[in-house]
Amino acid sequence: MEKKKGSSMTEAVLILGATSAIARATAVAFAARGNTLYLASRDEDELRRIAADIYLRYGVNVYYGLFDAAATDTHEKFFKSVVAIMPDLSGVVLAFGYLGDQHAARDFSAGAKIIAANFTGAASILSLCANHFEALQRGFIIGISSVAGDRGRQSNYMYGAAKGALSLYLQGLRNRLYSSGVRVITVKPGFVDTAMTYGLPGLFLVASPQNIGERIVRSLDKSADVVYLPWFWRYIMLIIKHIPEPIFKRMKL
Ligand SMILES: NC(=O)c1ccc[n+]([C@@H]2O[C@H](COP(=O)([O-])OP(=O)(O)OC[C@H]3O[C@@H](n4cnc5c(N)ncnc54)[C@H](OP(=O)(O)O)[C@@H]3O)[C@@H](O)[C@H]2O)c1
Repeated sequence: MEKKKGSSMTEAVLILGATSAIARATAVAFAARGNTLYLASRDEDELRRIAADIYLRYGVNVYYGLFDAAATDTHEKFFKSVVAIMPDLSGVVLAFGYLGDQHAARDFSAGAKIIAANFTGAASILSLCANHFEALQRGFIIGISSVAGDRGRQSNYMYGAAKGALSLYLQGLRNRLYSSGVRVITVKPGFVDTAMTYGLPGLFLVASPQNIGERIVRSLDKSADVVYLPWFWRYIMLIIKHIPEPIFKRMKL
């Protein structure tokens, strides 16, 4: 289902998981640059509200439609419908994610939902986006992974494993698409103040979704391939990745 708000036409960006707080801020930052948007998620009412708000504030075209990352058999039809509406599609931001409950690691049927939302679904839709941009020899893909994918921890290793797989997938895609002129950027946020982290214990250096959204869009103006947000997480994770395993396995993280 696709609906639109607005009437102008310029370079178009598809945002997957557009009801997320980070995605919403990213959409606003693109709209401020005059980009046409397609917002996709499972919550049509919320998409309608976000689309109306962005159109009112920025006057850009905002389409929206239903998308479920886990329903991989629907992805081809979905992506074709996006390209039919926005033939000038210039980029995709993959923002959906599902933290789930780490206890799911003890129950694989629950853990499988974490993998499906964060990795399998991402690989499915991104393979279609990659083929499209490769044929056009242009475009960009921004994938929101996580610092959680940099090292396995007992508190979130199901989510971390799925995000780690996504980071590797994006790395391979970047290598494949480089010669086609298609840019692939991996974004690894630290803690961000969103519904995903609401009420979680032990958070520190928590960033606002607005800050992260603006920086995601600004990453297109720079040459970096892997962007830690805020920047200091690159160094925090560098330290965490270098803790020797015999010590790391004893830590409560
Ligand atoms: N918050 C943090 O601290 C943090 C840190 C590192 C990385 N990240 C990553 O940043 C991204 C945005 O996170 P956020 O904190 O802004 O999240 P959020 O506000 O909790 O939103 C999560 C989003 O994922 C979408 N989603 C979940 N399962 C989906 C599915 N099966 N199909 C389609 N959409 C699905 C939800 O859409 P609907 O439910 O509306 O369909 C929602 O838009 C995620 O990839 C997350 O993993 C977040």
